[in-house]
Amino acid sequence: MTAKEKNMSDSIDDGKNHQGHDFDGIRELNNPAPNWIIFVFLLTYGFSLFYAIHYFGYPDNGNDQVSEYKQKVADFAMAQRKLKGGSTAVIVMTKEEILSAGTKLFTAKGCIACHGLKGEGNSIGPNLTDNFWINGCSQDSLVLIITEGKAQKGMTPFKTMMTQEQIKNVSIYILAGLVGSNPANAKPPQGVECKP
Ligand code: HEC
Repeated sequence: MTAKEKNMSDSIDDGKNHQGHDFDGIRELNNPAPNWIIFVFLLTYGFSLFYAIHYFGYPDNGNDQVSEYKQKVADFAMAQRKLKGGSTAVIVMTKEEILSAGTKLFTAKGCIACHGLKGEGNSIGPNLTDNFWINGCSQDSLVLIITEGKAQKGMTPFKTMMTQEQIKNVSIYILAGLVGSNPANAKPPQGVECKP
C-alpha cells in the first residue's frame, strides 16, 4: 500500500468504522448511507404503501382504474343530459320499482280523488283501468294529459306538481298496473277503444 493509499483508507477508517475483520490488509468497514438518503428511501417506501392501497382501490374505495372509468362514463352521461336539458337525476329503477313508485304517486298526488282508489273512475274522472281512452292510449298521450291537464274538463295539469320522471312513472303504472285490472264499481268506458 502506498502512502497515498494508506492516507485515503485511514480517512474513511477513523477507527470507529472498523468492524474488527482484517484479512491480508482488506478490512471490513461500516460506512452507513447518509441520513438524508435513508430519509428519502423511507419517504418513497411510505409513499409506495399509500399509493398501492389508495390507487389499487383497497378496500373498494372507488379509486381503482375500473371504478374511475365507470365514474368518468357516468359523469359524461350526466353532462350530456344537462346539455340536452333533461333530468340530471340518475334513475335506474326496475319495473317493480317504477310500478310501486307509480302506485304511491297515484295516491300521494291525489289522482284517487277523481279517478278512484283503484283507478276505477268516479263521477268526476274517467275509468283508467279499461282500454277506452278520451285522449289517446299511448304512454306519450298519457304523459301529455297528466302534464298539461285539461282545464275545461276538470283534469288538473300536474307539470308544476310532479317531475317529468314522476309523470312518466305514474303513466307506466296506469298502463302496466291499472289497465286490465277490472276493479269493482268500474265506471263505464268513455272515449275510443285502443286496439292493441
Ligand atoms: C280534479 C280531478 C282530477 C284529478 C286530481 C286528476 N284527474 Fe285525471 N282526469 C280528470 C278528468 C275529468 C279527466 C277527463 C278529461 C277529458 O274528458 O278529456 C281526466 C283524464 C285523465 C287521463 C286521460 C284519460 C282518458 O281517457 O284519456 C289520465 C291518464 C289521467 N286523467 C290521469 C291522472 C293522473 C295520473 C292523476 C294524478 C297525478 C290525475 N289524473 C288527477 C280529473 C282529474
